[in-house]
Amino acid sequence: MKVIRARDYDQMCSFAAHFIARQVNHKPGMVLGLATGRTMQGLYRDLVERHRAGAVSFAGVRSFNLDEYVNLDPNHPASYHSFMRWNFVEQVDIPPENVRIPDGNSDRLLEAASQYEADIRAAGGIDLQVLGIGRNGHIAFNEPGSSLSSRTRVKRLSPETILSNTPEFGDPESVPRYVVTMGIGTVMEARFVLMLASGSSKAKAVEQMIEGPLTAQCPASILQMHPHAFVIVDEAAAVRLTHSYETVEEILADPYEEYFWEGA
Ligand code: GLP
Repeated sequence: MKVIRARDYDQMCSFAAHFIARQVNHKPGMVLGLATGRTMQGLYRDLVERHRAGAVSFAGVRSFNLDEYVNLDPNHPASYHSFMRWNFVEQVDIPPENVRIPDGNSDRLLEAASQYEADIRAAGGIDLQVLGIGRNGHIAFNEPGSSLSSRTRVKRLSPETILSNTPEFGDPESVPRYVVTMGIGTVMEARFVLMLASGSSKAKAVEQMIEGPLTAQCPASILQMHPHAFVIVDEAAAVRLTHSYETVEEILADPYEEYFWEGA
């Protein structure tokens, strides 16, 4: 796991966008694993700007999102379908039919989940998976205790995650209790993982993920086992870390930057 310290939220987003654009330009037909959540808004904003400036095209990209709520209208403003439409799909040149998001409204949720896995495999696997982290250390919607080798499936949200995601719904009662999420095993098969963590509410989970033991109680700690996992943390999220890590400036100034990304 390579940990990279960003000065603030904007620098974290811009460095992540730099890396994603670099990978897309290198392989225009790549398969991107995409994430949602407040942390990701600045990342998509930056990618959209790069696209408008002619620095990157997503015309050949296929994408798979991590997760979606069960039994929530895809047009509901808090659905991850809406999030992706507004923040990314309608702003760049990715063909909308190339964008896949788990279907939380299928009447055969389990079959749809295994089909999602099959579709990822048929696309050649995920080249680069973008990830956020929950306050309790979850990745996608794999809550603490989730099997570290799990696949796409239905999960029940923890009370803590329901509270964290309440602002998008107005009140806790309106937050769906069930979700469909890629599994931890699915995420671990991506060739690259790029995790973004921002703000003091994530500091404890970040400490456990990076400097704590590998445990299902902090699902994000599995990234310690990934050969190409990059974790960008801003200052507020990094306050509990005790070891020293490279800064964004140091990596950008490194004449061997391209090798930096080869190994975690
Ligand atoms: C959500 C999502 C995750 C996301 C995390 C953090 O529940 N399922 O994919 O990374 O929680 O979200 P935020 O960035 O809003 O803090």
